[in-house]
Amino acid sequence: MLLLHLSDLHLTRYGEPRKWTQLEGEQENWALLHSWHGWRIEGIRDRKGRPDRLRLVDPAGIVHTTKKWPTRKEDKLIAALLSVAMKRQATSSEELIRTQPTRDDLSSLLRIDPNNTNLRFLQLVHDVLPLNPAIVVITGDITDNGLGYGLVKHYLQPWIEKKRLMVVPGNHDTYEMFPGKGRKARLEAKLERYQGFAEAVDMAPEKSGAYLRWVDDIAFVGLSSCKPPLTPLSASGEVSSVQLKYLRELSQDSAFKSARQRVCLMHHHVLRMPLEFGKRGPIEVGLRLRNAKEVMSACTNAQIDLILHGHRHHGYLVKLPGHPMVVSSPSSTWGCQSTELRYVWTMDLSQRVPFPEIHRFTMDQASPLTEDY
Ligand SMILES: [Fe+2]
Ligand SMILES: [Fe+2]
Repeated sequence: MLLLHLSDLHLTRYGEPRKWTQLEGEQENWALLHSWHGWRIEGIRDRKGRPDRLRLVDPAGIVHTTKKWPTRKEDKLIAALLSVAMKRQATSSEELIRTQPTRDDLSSLLRIDPNNTNLRFLQLVHDVLPLNPAIVVITGDITDNGLGYGLVKHYLQPWIEKKRLMVVPGNHDTYEMFPGKGRKARLEAKLERYQGFAEAVDMAPEKSGAYLRWVDDIAFVGLSSCKPPLTPLSASGEVSSVQLKYLRELSQDSAFKSARQRVCLMHHHVLRMPLEFGKRGPIEVGLRLRNAKEVMSACTNAQIDLILHGHRHHGYLVKLPGHPMVVSSPSSTWGCQSTELRYVWTMDLSQRVPFPEIHRFTMDQASPLTEDY
């Protein structure tokens, strides 16, 4: 029974680098100069009426880029902004659902937009799903900003129908870290979108925030580690005491105790990052699981065999004697920051002690996010 462990897809509405996510509230004084399929190129003038800035706004009202409005060769900049809009539109989740690109089309699209996470997810669909895993797990950060679940719902439909897709939320799916006007409303909308997605794939948690699912005689416990700290700009997490109590109670359940395997899913990393080659370990500030010790202890006491998580975008396996094996997935779209490889873990749960194997799904190296305009 093959399990495919995915994590940190960071899908977005268009799969683009994350810089665009800032919302610009003020609409006044921006004049419409050009539009295409709901995209708008708008300009604003200074007090003396001289051209000041141009911006590209998508159909949802999100500003993708703002440029200085040139006094000469304005058409050239408008054409460049339009080509950005066309590039974005081609990789929107709606478009990629409407028509699945062939492998050749995908390579062409990736050539002009190599870091696009929506396209990289489709690469995975082409290269990894043919392994035909019995179970697919996504350990959070499914989206970068709460948009883009449609691609998962569409391309993993066969697993969803069989209740073989297991998901837990990540900080990117559920936190709104940036302060500013409208933060509360953005957070509520984001939480609602994750909730809607979890319900659609039948992975909505119980009241405690955790869930238990069975696949044959294998028990899967999903924990939410997405409890934001009071500190702003932090992506750290915590598993609530209510969930830990739930896990403790579960460990007394006779069916759970006699399960062939017990697998626990969460987003944040329960062990601190191991060292990188020749360097100190990566900085953990603002990223850690704040009650990691309690979580590991609860998992150990519940006789969890495997803990699967994501969040750090570094892939590693750790088996400390007397504790569950910990499998950290790299980002399935951006790759592994330690090795600069792009791979996913697969594990055969029909074995008593499944040892995860690396499956490299492309020969591309992971590449850091770069700004493309
Ligand atoms: Fe992530
Ligand atoms: Fe994360």
